This record gives sequence, C-alpha cells and structure tokens, in this order.
Amino acid sequence: MAREQLSVLIPEDRLQARIRELGAKIRADYGDEPLTVIGVLKGSFIFMADIVRAIGGDVRCEFLGVSSYHGGTRTTGVVRITDDLRNPIEGQHCLVVEDIIDTGLTMDYLLKILAVRGPKSLRTCSLLDKPAHREVDITCDYVGFSIPDEFVVGYGLDLGERYRNLPYIAVYSP
Ligand code: PRP
Repeated sequence: MAREQLSVLIPEDRLQARIRELGAKIRADYGDEPLTVIGVLKGSFIFMADIVRAIGGDVRCEFLGVSSYHGGTRTTGVVRITDDLRNPIEGQHCLVVEDIIDTGLTMDYLLKILAVRGPKSLRTCSLLDKPAHREVDITCDYVGFSIPDEFVVGYGLDLGERYRNLPYIAVYSP
C-alpha cells in the first residue's frame, strides 16, 4: 500500500470523540423518540456503526445503496440507487447518515426521494462536510467536521475501493 501518499487529517481519537458528542446531541434533540437511521452505502458504513451506538436508545438501522463517483476522484454528478430501503419510513423520524457531503448532489437527490415516502421528520448527518465544491444549497443538520478542499480517504471513504478500512481520515495526494 502506498502509505507515503497519505497524510492524517483527522486522527482516530478526534474522530471518536466527535462522534460521541454528535450522538449525544442527536439523542438529546429527539428525546425518547424512536429514530430510523439511514446509512448511505458504501461510504457511511463505518461511521454508521459508530454513530448509532453513540445515539443510543430506540434506533432502527436502514441502508440505502448509492453511487455517484464510480471509482474516480471527481463526482460524475449522476446519482444512482444501487439498493433501496427494505422497509417503509412513513411516519418515522428519519436521519440520513453520510460519510461526506461534497457537491451536495447525492444528499439533495436522497432528500427528494425520501421526502415523498412520508417520514414524520427528515434530517441529515454527515461525518465530513467539504463546502468548497457545493453545487446545490444543502444544509446538513449534524456535521462532524468541516474539511478543506482535499481528497480524503479512510474511515469508510475510498479511492477505487481502497483505504475504507483506515481508522482515521487521511488526505490522499496523487
Ligand atoms: C460519496 C459519498 C457520498 C457522495 C457525496 O459516495 O459517500 O454519498 O459521494 O458526494 P456529493 O456531495 O458530491 O454528491 P460515492 O459515490 O463515492 O460512493 P461510495 O459511498 O460507495 O464510496
């Protein structure tokens, strides 16, 4: 593995501390209400595992498969659903969990298709927010870290399917 191309941006201890804070804030905001947490695959799978445990209480886990980058380092702007939710979300408090919001196109599309399914409420949570390339006006309800305009990998984020298993967020320099 070409580790010399990676430099740590957010170390594991900072990630975990921030996720505990976010989880506590989310649970405080919803009180004792049940919450359906929708992880957007693949990138969110590691964050999803940690954030649902940090939220605690009555949580249901759902997953939505989406792809927009198709293996490169730049978005294609085309959002594709690869796996739909297994259960209805009508009447439920829903929280969409992403690893990163970059152009905002994916989240914008997901919010539109989920809103028509009649959730009781619909909010968003992203571990990372990269505002530099925003193409649509998305305000994320819960953000872990706002990051600079760098290509990042690790903790679920990939480059051509590599690096998702790093326990920290790193900047990838070609
Ligand atoms: C990434 C990420 C988000 C999306 C964000 O997914 O997980 O879903 O891109 O980018 P945007 O704000 O510019 O739309 P990707 O298509 O890389 O698929 P993956 O999650 O399977 O890695």
